[in-house]
Amino acid sequence: MKKYIFTSLLFVLIFTSCNKSNISSTEERLDQRVDSVIKLMTLEEKIGQMVLYTSDWDVTGPTLKSGYLDDIRSGNCGNIFNAHTAKYTRKLQKIAVEESRLGIPLLFGYDVIHGHKTIFPISLGESASWDMVAIEKSARVSAIEAAASGINWTFAPMCDISVEPRWGRVSEGAGEDPYLGSLIAVARVHGFQGNDLSDSLSILACVKHFAAYGAPLAGRDYNTVDMSKRVFLDTYLPPYKAAIDAGAMSVMSSFNELDGIPASGSKYLLTDLLRTELGFKGFVVTDYTSINEMVNHGIVANEVDAGLLAIKAGVDMDMQGEVYFKYLKNQVNEGLLDVKLIDESVRRILKVKFMLDLFDDPYKYCNEEREKRLVYAPEHLEAALDVAKKSMVLLKNENNVLPLQKGEKIVVIGELAASTRDLLGSWKAAGDWDFMKSTIDEIKLYNGESNVIYTEGCKKMGEDRSGFPAAIALARRADKIVMVIGEDWEWSGEAASRTSIKIPGVQTELLEKLKTLNKPVIVVLMNGRPLDLSKESTLADAILEAWYPGTMGGKAITQVLFGDYNPSGKLTMTFPRTLGQVPIFYYEKNTGRPLYLENPKYKSRYIDCPNDPLYPFGFGLSYSTFVYSDIKLSTSELTENGNLEASVNVTNTGGVDGEEVVQCYIRDLVGSVTRPVKELKGFEKIYLKAGESKVITFKITPDMLAFHRLDMTYGTEPGDFKLFIGGNSRDVKETNFALSVQ
Ligand code: BGC
Repeated sequence: MKKYIFTSLLFVLIFTSCNKSNISSTEERLDQRVDSVIKLMTLEEKIGQMVLYTSDWDVTGPTLKSGYLDDIRSGNCGNIFNAHTAKYTRKLQKIAVEESRLGIPLLFGYDVIHGHKTIFPISLGESASWDMVAIEKSARVSAIEAAASGINWTFAPMCDISVEPRWGRVSEGAGEDPYLGSLIAVARVHGFQGNDLSDSLSILACVKHFAAYGAPLAGRDYNTVDMSKRVFLDTYLPPYKAAIDAGAMSVMSSFNELDGIPASGSKYLLTDLLRTELGFKGFVVTDYTSINEMVNHGIVANEVDAGLLAIKAGVDMDMQGEVYFKYLKNQVNEGLLDVKLIDESVRRILKVKFMLDLFDDPYKYCNEEREKRLVYAPEHLEAALDVAKKSMVLLKNENNVLPLQKGEKIVVIGELAASTRDLLGSWKAAGDWDFMKSTIDEIKLYNGESNVIYTEGCKKMGEDRSGFPAAIALARRADKIVMVIGEDWEWSGEAASRTSIKIPGVQTELLEKLKTLNKPVIVVLMNGRPLDLSKESTLADAILEAWYPGTMGGKAITQVLFGDYNPSGKLTMTFPRTLGQVPIFYYEKNTGRPLYLENPKYKSRYIDCPNDPLYPFGFGLSYSTFVYSDIKLSTSELTENGNLEASVNVTNTGGVDGEEVVQCYIRDLVGSVTRPVKELKGFEKIYLKAGESKVITFKITPDMLAFHRLDMTYGTEPGDFKLFIGGNSRDVKETNFALSVQ
């Protein structure tokens, strides 16, 4: 009772102190409220706000270690992650608000990456939709469900550019392109945070993993990252920056080192760049125990020094490492650490708690009635179905074997066709799969039980071929063969790097045998990374890349296979012919010896494989065909303050309505430093009825041509440029223009 009275007093104090003063801006008012709390805090309580502990949960529901409950009560723990449900978070929040001395509310973090309960396609899949409205909607629905289940902070969006398919975490990102990646980062931040962080349907976004985590050496997770500063600034930084500019109020420091300094100890990254240059105003949390890991990195001798390095670099919150908890207090008392740094961090964290309106309404996310109403709401499932369909990429469709016709006799083969868990992919948050329908269930529902036979044929992993004969026998009786193959869901995501990007096990071997039956073979892929499909692409008549498509994935696959939805997805990562080509990406440089096929000797090439990928960035087919006219320019001379319009006429020459992603690329032909052969500068996803044409116009302004020049300043250089427009990064129309200075 006594404690509760004290807590109430704190609220009165914060409230009245703000009302009395004559404060003009909201920002100042916020600062005053924060300061009024900080004034009351002991050093221990301040450090308590700077730690984040995971709950220790099992399948029957989340439970916290009793020690952590005491930490919340004593003010030694201000933030929890991996605890959810309105009921459970209310229980913990009650301890913080009503039993701790100051009653400061908790942040509840969770990896709501592509859905909370209703799971959307994995992020890489979503990116292939090139549909910012759909992507924002996915993040919005995720926020609404998470917020209804007690979560007020998601560890997303993941903004790591990557050209490394060996790295399992490409599944969590938006692919290889900085421009597209930036737009997607913005859409996700807007979706999570809404228009107003204080809205009870909004949750705090966290930009991760800062920085350059997507470029680990040899594709091995957590490995060293080393790249030139120019590449970092021009290619890897833009999506993080875009997310911060969009208002994300937390950033997660990454596990990797960059240029010899682990991110969680890098003052350059976390203070000079993030705060001074990018103007970030929120707080920085580490990745899981990444302060402690700086000892292994070899940048400090022990955890005591690691904590000091981290806080001086700009880390505000220690995720799970207990380093801040154990050592900061003594370091202040011994004069090794200025308490002002601690105050700064606490100020940033409390400010966000105020922005979330947690002080005034600490239980706003803990409403069981709302949770019941919103989790798995029909409109959320509808949105998940919509995004899943939009994310699928048709890679091949020889002789238009797709779409399937209703009533056709089909055999469906592959363990993945019957799996529900795999549909969700990694980071499925609180998503359940026991009530979901598998791909085969949905195909049967759609096409009629009697027209569909299912047999496993083989597992997704392992060498067992015992199911081959039955699969072949059943396939003989079918009109068409659909084989669902790919990777186990655990083969992508964190700690899931591979040294091969081939389809695992004996799945391809069975496909080879099925091919000999001379029947149309359709492959549906479930995977979280670009794969080497060189063999499968010769065996299959059609290939549909379905990724891990989420809760509604089985239905989405079915609707696309049967043509209820005309596929419109385009790859956001290059699919190589072989792992030997990796890293391979469309924005490569030209080299001094570019390959021209008529005279290949002593050119930059492989002697055993072409240079180009199997499926380039931006590639994806449709059940329609789209024809592009030549490009028309409004002027071929772009002036410093002017703009130029580039137009093409796109016609749907197919027999069905469909969507096309019209893409615009630019090449700067001569620069003070060499420039990529193509860079995406714009795109538009259009819908064209069969036979319809549309003129699509891209407006080019000089700022779109800026880069980090020889002297590292950011800006443009006059000269000649190429402009390309097409349906992928390879098949384009091109023209030239010049940028002039007056
Ligand atoms: C991952 C982060 C994640 C964190 C909390 C780490 O292992 O790298 O992406 O947000 O765990 O679950």
